[in-house]
Amino acid sequence: MIALHWLVAFGIFTAFGVGLYMTDIPGITPEKIRLINWHKWLGVTLFLLISLRLFVKLSNKSPKYPAHWGHRSIFLAKAGHVVLYLMMFAVPILGYLNSLTAGYPVVWFGVIPLPVIIGKDPHLKELFHELHEWFAWGLMILVAGHILMALKHHYLNREGILGRMIPGMRVE
Ligand code: HEM
Repeated sequence: MIALHWLVAFGIFTAFGVGLYMTDIPGITPEKIRLINWHKWLGVTLFLLISLRLFVKLSNKSPKYPAHWGHRSIFLAKAGHVVLYLMMFAVPILGYLNSLTAGYPVVWFGVIPLPVIIGKDPHLKELFHELHEWFAWGLMILVAGHILMALKHHYLNREGILGRMIPGMRVE
């Protein structure tokens, strides 16, 4: 779970940065096409890793929250994580639908053709592009909140919470 957490975190930041950079390149250049392909392949890989993460999470017991946490704190932490998972799935799914409705089926790493579940449709392409972009920004805002809460619980509340994802990290 720890390895998957950091792999997915690194992948999401990379996909976000590449997404913003590639869409800023004017016209159609070989570099832009290469980056768009890498972005899609990374995004699909992240979708699979996030699915694996959710499967491992649901089939194992998570470590307990600090003993003094009340129902409200536990509810808020769990609800935040549910929304994070929903957004982590929504962003690549919307990107995938964006690509298909633009008329570009995805061939994972140029080798494995992925299912074409919807055909080319310029109107839907506009919608999925907007949604993919807005959800990607929404995910970044959620991730920022996630990081801030982890830092607050570790450094202000001194609950050693970072130790759950950084082995050896003690209460500061
Ligand atoms: C967690 C995974 C992903 C993140 C964080 C992400 C993020 C982004 C961002 C920030 C943009 C720029 C939006 C803009 O400014 O217009 C973008 C564009 C794009 N993404 Fe993703 N993306 C992800 C996964 C995917 C996947 C899985 C696919 C398709 C298989 C995909 C396909 C695209 C396409 C085609 C564009 C260009 C949109 C256009 O110009 O029509 N993305 N993505």
